[in-house]
Amino acid sequence: MKIDEVLRRNFPIISEDYRKFALDKDKCRKCSMYSHYEQVGQSEGNAKDPTFMFIGEALGEEEVKQNRPFIGRAGQRLRAELRKYPEVFRRDTVLISNVLACRPPNNKFPAGDHSKIAETCCNLWVRREIKMLKPKVVVTLGNPALKYIRDDWGITANRGQWKFLHLYRSWSLATFHPSYVIRSENSGKKFVVDQFEADIEKIATTWRSMIDGDYRMSLSEEEWQQQLVVEELIKMGV
Ligand code: URA
Repeated sequence: MKIDEVLRRNFPIISEDYRKFALDKDKCRKCSMYSHYEQVGQSEGNAKDPTFMFIGEALGEEEVKQNRPFIGRAGQRLRAELRKYPEVFRRDTVLISNVLACRPPNNKFPAGDHSKIAETCCNLWVRREIKMLKPKVVVTLGNPALKYIRDDWGITANRGQWKFLHLYRSWSLATFHPSYVIRSENSGKKFVVDQFEADIEKIATTWRSMIDGDYRMSLSEEEWQQQLVVEELIKMGV
């Protein structure tokens, strides 16, 4: 599919800066994962000022064919959960993205010696995407997003907890990857399903109180940068 058509279909709202970013991303040939298929993956949703950004791992097989994130089985599970809160999660409030821009060969997330690939990819794309769009809430789905976006490890210990991300000036909540939720549904681990559903409900029902009650969210960009300098000086003991 031509990139212009992908952008038109995936993004009901898109800023000029984001369009440039997405066109650059489309041309990325930086690593060996690109050759795995023909088009770099794009995000979907509000690409100008989303309230929520959901971040998964990488496109699956179905997603690659259509160049749309989370439209296969895992995506349907995620979207079904979001549809329970139609006032909160809508196409104009949500952006769905992934840690990796391309689907890795054999669907294996680069680890060990290859983790540098994931680090470089994140710096080039998803971290810049968060900085550009400044979502109020970042939702990480599964361990890779937890690690590469929140710098935390261990989904069981971290899920369901709000954490403020200084790097992005956004609130974040971690939950399970919907593929794991499906596997848990099929293997009788009902507590995983319950926790995933509770996490999404928690975001829908408490996000506003997190944002509204936090003075950092209402600072101008300039004030925020000053605040970061002050915090850095305090950390250094100055
Ligand atoms: N799994 C993910 O992590 N992302 C997708 O976009 C699809 C499946």
